[in-house]
Amino acid sequence: MAIREILKMGDPRLLRKAKPVPAEMFNTQQLFDLVQDLEETMKNANGAGLAAPQIGVDLQLLIFGTGQLNPRYPDAPVVPKTVICNPVITPLNSLSQPCDPEQATLEEGWEGCLSVPGLRAMVPRFQSIHYAGFYPDGRPISEYAQSFHARVVQHECDHLWGVLYPMRVKDFSRFGYTEILFPDLVV
Ligand code: NI
Repeated sequence: MAIREILKMGDPRLLRKAKPVPAEMFNTQQLFDLVQDLEETMKNANGAGLAAPQIGVDLQLLIFGTGQLNPRYPDAPVVPKTVICNPVITPLNSLSQPCDPEQATLEEGWEGCLSVPGLRAMVPRFQSIHYAGFYPDGRPISEYAQSFHARVVQHECDHLWGVLYPMRVKDFSRFGYTEILFPDLVV
């Protein structure tokens, strides 16, 4: 397996709507090898998550979380290590019920992206979500997430729809270089 090149903003492959992982690809060595490449590439870059389009693979596949603290986001809670294919996100309202995006509670937080190196911005996201999809072996996933965990899931899923976080920024006065915004951060 290998550490793959991470595409950077401006590459048109980051703007594609990724194709669903086809049924015949589940539970295959081809898919497991791809997941391993994503994991090795994310770990090498200290990423909080990585989506297949970021390594030029046009599939709805992403990974996030390491199960331990992340040096790029030292104040963020630990997010469980997750691999998910063909994810679907449903926003939740303040009563944890599925709702229209317009009725969901939003929360602002700082984000960075391995495809947008050296920058951070304040990005609004749904505070609370349900997400569904499949493990690479084909078993279904159904989970709830809030705050930073929910933010990571939404950020990575955006990569599958061809959306990069700068496209979600509302307040460009809170968009800048990591080394200026967070001078104590070493990565
Ligand atoms: Ni990203």
